[in-house]
Amino acid sequence: MHSRLLMKLRRQWAAVPAFFALAALAASVSAYSGASSRAGNSPVQPVRFPHPIHVQTLKMNCLYCHFAANKSPDPGMPAMSTCMGCHTVAGAAKPEIQKLAGYWTRQQPVPWIRIHKLPEYVKFPHMRHVGAGVSCQTCHGNVQNMAQVSQSQTLGMGWCVSCHTGQSNPPFRARYDCSTCHH
Ligand code: HEC
Ligand code: HEC
Ligand code: HEC
Ligand code: HEC
Ligand code: HEC
Repeated sequence: MHSRLLMKLRRQWAAVPAFFALAALAASVSAYSGASSRAGNSPVQPVRFPHPIHVQTLKMNCLYCHFAANKSPDPGMPAMSTCMGCHTVAGAAKPEIQKLAGYWTRQQPVPWIRIHKLPEYVKFPHMRHVGAGVSCQTCHGNVQNMAQVSQSQTLGMGWCVSCHTGQSNPPFRARYDCSTCHH
């Protein structure tokens, strides 16, 4: 009787350090890792830039503004001079354009709020994807219709791996060992 009680107590106490070790591990892993930005993320931007007018009405190509998407890991954001080439004249009386012009005269870049963001420990080369023929819309949704950009995919590991293993439509293939995406 006595020894069984002792055994039970020992088992309970043995579980305590294990629990603390697990909690500490979980905390350090999550502090180290962070996670991708979430699907549906759609912050109000400091200037309400409308993709539909520029892409659909004015027929501007995505690469006109995100000029490095096909040659660099990072797609790039347009310089103020790209905008002001048109907006010193186009819509100059409109409040959002006056906000834009305010940044320009103060020689400040517009502080765009980043929407899509992977954690630092994930490698993501845009040019490899664009070069392989994966469309911007496959990963970003129909940005050309979005009055305000909204993240359409999870950017989770499962999402990346399912395409790399040929399960997307249309199907693609790419390496999927851990070191493909992790440093
Ligand atoms: C095709 C790219 C890709 C491959 C291959 C890949 N990962 Fe990941 N991994 C990611 C992305 C993206 C995230 C961030 C996911 C998130 O935040 O939702 C991630 C997150 C992680 C995390 C952190 C999870 C968390 O919840 O914080 C670990 C651990 C991990 N991966 C391990 C692995 C291991 C082990 C392998 C190999 C078996 C692997 N990964 C292969 C893309 C990849
Ligand atoms: C006239 C320039 C211009 C064109 C053309 C343009 N964009 Fe943008 N794009 C911007 C600006 C400015 C922002 C930042 C403000 C915002 O989020 O709306 C942005 C933001 C984005 C974002 C969100 C970035 C983040 O922080 O995650 C994506 C994705 C994007 N654009 C994709 C596209 C795609 C796809 C196309 C073509 C269909 C395109 N853009 C065409 C200027 C442009
Ligand atoms: C090729 C010329 C051109 C370029 C380059 C351009 N735009 Fe525009 N943009 C326009 C035109 C034309 C309109 C419609 C103006 C109107 O309705 O009076 C417009 C509309 C807008 C509007 C909506 C104004 C409103 O409230 O109705 C914003 C905001 C805007 N642009 C910001 C930008 C930003 C930021 C950039 C640079 C990333 C940019 N534009 C680049 C031509 C351009
Ligand atoms: C295979 C999926 C995929 C494709 C294809 C893709 N993107 Fe992305 N894009 C992402 C991911 C994932 C991020 C976040 C990257 C990070 O945080 O390192 C991102 C980030 C961005 C950003 C924000 C970058 C910044 O520095 O603020 C812009 C803008 C963007 N993409 C535009 C484009 C455009 C334009 C195209 C097409 C020419 C394109 N993307 C094609 C997945 C993709
Ligand atoms: C819709 C399909 C698709 C999605 C989604 C996708 N990828 Fe890819 N990925 C590709 C293709 C296609 C290639 C190019 C393969 C080639 O050039 O052989 C590629 C290449 C890569 C490479 C370079 C691999 C190498 O061989 O060096 C990395 C790194 C990568 N992807 C990471 C990611 C991460 C991280 C995500 C998720 C955030 C992601 N990919 C989501 C299709 C995709």
